[in-house]
Amino acid sequence: MCGIVGYIGNNEKKSLLLSGLKELEYRGYDSAGISVLENGELHTFKAVGKLINLERKCEGFHSSGFGLGIGHTRWATHGKPTEINAHPHIGHYSNIVHNGIIENYQSIKESLQKQGCVFSSQTDTEVIVHLFESYVTQGNDPFSAFKKTISDLKGAYAILLITQKSPDTIFYAKNGSPLIIARNTKTKEVFFASSDAPLIGLASEVCYLEDGEVGKMDLESFARLKNIKPLSGDKLSAQKDGFTFFMEKEIYEQHKVLLETMMGRVSEEGFCLDELESLNLDSINSLTLCACGTSYHASLAGSYLIERIAKLKTKVEIASEFRYKEPILHKNELFVVISQSGETADTLEALKLAKQKGLTALAICNVDNSSIVRESDYSLLTRAGIEKGVASTKAFATQVMVLWILANFLAQKRGILDKAMLKNEANTMLEASKATQVDKKLHEHIKRLSRRYLHGHGFFFIGRDIFYPLALEGALKLKEISYLHAEGYPSGEMKHGPIALADLGLFCVTLMPQNLLYDKVKSNVEELSARDAMICALSAEYYEGCDDWIAIPSAKHYMVEFFSMMVVLQVFALEVAVRLGNDVDMPRNLAKSVTVE
Ligand code: G6P
Repeated sequence: MCGIVGYIGNNEKKSLLLSGLKELEYRGYDSAGISVLENGELHTFKAVGKLINLERKCEGFHSSGFGLGIGHTRWATHGKPTEINAHPHIGHYSNIVHNGIIENYQSIKESLQKQGCVFSSQTDTEVIVHLFESYVTQGNDPFSAFKKTISDLKGAYAILLITQKSPDTIFYAKNGSPLIIARNTKTKEVFFASSDAPLIGLASEVCYLEDGEVGKMDLESFARLKNIKPLSGDKLSAQKDGFTFFMEKEIYEQHKVLLETMMGRVSEEGFCLDELESLNLDSINSLTLCACGTSYHASLAGSYLIERIAKLKTKVEIASEFRYKEPILHKNELFVVISQSGETADTLEALKLAKQKGLTALAICNVDNSSIVRESDYSLLTRAGIEKGVASTKAFATQVMVLWILANFLAQKRGILDKAMLKNEANTMLEASKATQVDKKLHEHIKRLSRRYLHGHGFFFIGRDIFYPLALEGALKLKEISYLHAEGYPSGEMKHGPIALADLGLFCVTLMPQNLLYDKVKSNVEELSARDAMICALSAEYYEGCDDWIAIPSAKHYMVEFFSMMVVLQVFALEVAVRLGNDVDMPRNLAKSVTVE
């Protein structure tokens, strides 16, 4: 989704801004732009589409000596992805970039228009720059004008503004959308970004701004910020390492990151979550898991595990629905938010609501210091490393693993599992993580098979029990990157309506674990097969009713089968999308981190 970068210093600003935006590219965008202010002059460049178009636009421009710069990748919300609607938005002498949504922009726009202000874009953002300049015209100094502007805004925002009236300063404001200020302690350069990816390797200290912060920044002011933290990071983990796509690389590294997730938490002696040591479990009698997208599917999978293993009532909520349903919440339910990015607006707002109601909150998240982690009382990091493919893979795997560990940790604390059972669970986890190691031959087989699945009128992914959320995730993966219609369904539910669609053009990907309800799923699949649907079976044992068989290794536990099948579904989606010629890592219309409601 939209990304922001900013810079104050003596280096070449154009290339710094462009490389910062490159780091945010994976989040999804449809236009981009930069502005540089040096020697009192503003230079602005914008382009639709990929960053290469913007790079071409500003090919001949270079900036040397002291100056400021701001940059933005836009994911269209108000107005189409056109050059005019791209950020930075331009006033007479000021430029602005903004993430989020200004909810009261219409009324501000109308009142500015009455004063004679002319708008060129269809965006909500443009009102901010004109409002700022109108306050300056009324005689306010730039910082007062900026503060007045911000206090007029309703909605979510991260904003950077530069103006010729104050050529050494970037004005900033944050509410609901993430914004970070960082500094290189040696060179004294100051950086801004909407997530820490563009800062890694450039800055050594960071400050994660809190909601409601409004300020001005020049080369001297950084030290005055509160909560400055050191920035560490490993840029290498975000390279493709010889793979064509980040998604493919991320599928292949799952067995490694799952071991990271388990490290120090899982052993034959039992389960250890230091992060939850101070959590009073006696006061908790149920859990609510809340998330969006893939993280919602991981939550659903987790709910089966927690109820089955820890015997605690667990319900699952889609974050965007939860907020407005007037949920009934009890103080003795643990509110667990699951998020890869830690910045998803719906999940963050649901978390804030639960906190307001006095619930204890636990974040299961991949990004330390993210808004969701900071807002929660407790956090468990998933340790997946940077995930760049918009279609989430390793983040999902690690989320399910953390929820599985949590289920066992809770069961252990509640005295439900004896030593032998704990040992067995720990060994199964190890086996499950090994099961995600991609077998090259299997990958080749799926690749060949994928050509048979490019037409038809749609896909059903079906499974029972915890394989139902996996079916949902398999369908989501396919639709995200192939743009084919796919639905996940509990296999027992097909006969209550969806089976009406069964014919030669319906593809059914069936999850048939040996260790969980095999015969039940088998009879559901037979009902589909009898109606001529094309069956692609994922199972260890050959199922004679299938048209295609993707064999997974035989295992003794359904969770090992779960993780084997997860990899097959990810590779299947990848290969279908590649055959269709789609951009696997940056699929159309999608964003990696959705920071608007
Ligand atoms: C977006 C992404 C999905 C992700 C969802 C939730 O829609 O494209 O891949 O599952 O947001 O994101 P989160 O970062 O909260 O897990």
